Amino acid sequence: MAKKSKLKTLLAVEDDPGLQSQLRWCFEGYEVVIAGDRAAALAAVNKYHPAVITLDLGLPPDPTNASEGLATLGEILSIHPHAKVIVVTGNDDRENAVKAVSLGAYDFYQKPVDPEILGMIIDRAHALYDLEEEYRQLLQARTTQLEGIIGASPQMQKACRMVEKVAPSDVTTLLLGESGTGKELFARALHNLSSRKSGPFIAINCAAIPEALLESELFGHEKGAFTGASKQTRGKIEYADGGTFFLDEVGDLPQPLQAKMLRFLQERVIERVGGRSEISVDVRVICATHQDLQDLIKAGKFREDLYYRISEVTLKIPPLREREGDNLMLARVFIDRFSREHGQSLKGFSPEAMQAIECHHWPGNVRELENKIKRAVIMADGDYVTPEDLELNIVDRKENEPLCLDLRHVREEAERKALQRALTVANNNVTQAAELLCVSRPTLYDLLNKYGLK
Ligand SMILES: Nc1ncnc2c1ncn2[C@@H]1O[C@H](COP(=O)(O)OP(=O)(O)OP(=O)(O)O)[C@@H](O)[C@H]1O
Ligand SMILES: [Mg+2]
Repeated sequence: MAKKSKLKTLLAVEDDPGLQSQLRWCFEGYEVVIAGDRAAALAAVNKYHPAVITLDLGLPPDPTNASEGLATLGEILSIHPHAKVIVVTGNDDRENAVKAVSLGAYDFYQKPVDPEILGMIIDRAHALYDLEEEYRQLLQARTTQLEGIIGASPQMQKACRMVEKVAPSDVTTLLLGESGTGKELFARALHNLSSRKSGPFIAINCAAIPEALLESELFGHEKGAFTGASKQTRGKIEYADGGTFFLDEVGDLPQPLQAKMLRFLQERVIERVGGRSEISVDVRVICATHQDLQDLIKAGKFREDLYYRISEVTLKIPPLREREGDNLMLARVFIDRFSREHGQSLKGFSPEAMQAIECHHWPGNVRELENKIKRAVIMADGDYVTPEDLELNIVDRKENEPLCLDLRHVREEAERKALQRALTVANNNVTQAAELLCVSRPTLYDLLNKYGLK
């Protein structure tokens, strides 16, 4: 019995009774589940979630034609997109075999069935599935650990490594980045990776609160401290006790409060407005700004001593336009997310839309990309999002980009872009991407390695 539980499940979709019994017994190490038609195949996929599936393209009601087999393939992949489907075709049916691969089948095999060879293809498919599954789990761990921060560019990988290093310590951290680059997301990731993660994360935006109210918001007040202070109220810093306090847009902190904040950072005690007692608070402080604090210091608007206090560690979040390839990756994630939310089944972006996404300068960074895609999902009429849906202009090219004519560099850039596009179109299905690029899978793996796109 123990041995049986170790068997891997192989689903064989085959209508011919003779072949059914042959397939059932000839693969060592597998428990073979047989399905004779589309309905039985889909039921088995749902029940067993098999890593590898062999699929006869000639299925009833019309076994002489591949249409039912190709439709079954499409439905299998829509419910189990990672399955490795090996299409089994008639002797001379190369055309449908190639079509099946372009639809996402892993490989094809032409009848008559030689169990030894088919068995090797199945083993290889299984090994690849296991590897990819492991990789998916690693990726999953990555994204959940860094709270949904998406990005494969070296620039973002570097920033994420910094977060992992800095998070466990209590150092006061300054996040610098343009508007919409993900400063708040990073602040939350720092909190979630720290020992304070079960404590509160309290954020306050200095630019969003009128100066007259900000002091009380930050430090709290005693009853009767000012007109309207009808009861004692704790401030945001006090609420963050035991957790993380996120001071957003710190460049907008008014001068008198800069002095008070400096004192808090030095002494770790606060005094409520109108209060006389000192209250000690245990918080980790993270500040963020899109402004150049050095400029503010020079202009006399920001205290230099406060700057040194808040920037024990500084983390620069790169603008989206400097993150190689991340714009398309984020676009893909957002389109999937918003299509699901709207119950839409968009297939992706038109080639023009991808070009427009790559060429746009993204002054509003990830927030702008997110908003544009949210809009496009609502506006799109066809299967593919167009530049018009995104309100992007194809001619909107990056300005001031130096013209580089080094042929090797130009070639490599073109190659990298083609790879990224093919992967986006193929929804990261390597087999399909290789088809689109007209290269073999091993060649594609080599190229992915070369450009660090794994
Ligand atoms: N790397 C990323 N992966 C996924 N989503 C991201 C990423 N970066 C930013 N976002 C999303 O983009 C939006 C803007 O991010 P966030 O609010 O953290 O930026 P910000 O730098 O604080 O912007 P602002 O300066 O405008 O306050 C959010 O919806 C966030 O979830
Ligand atoms: Mg923000």
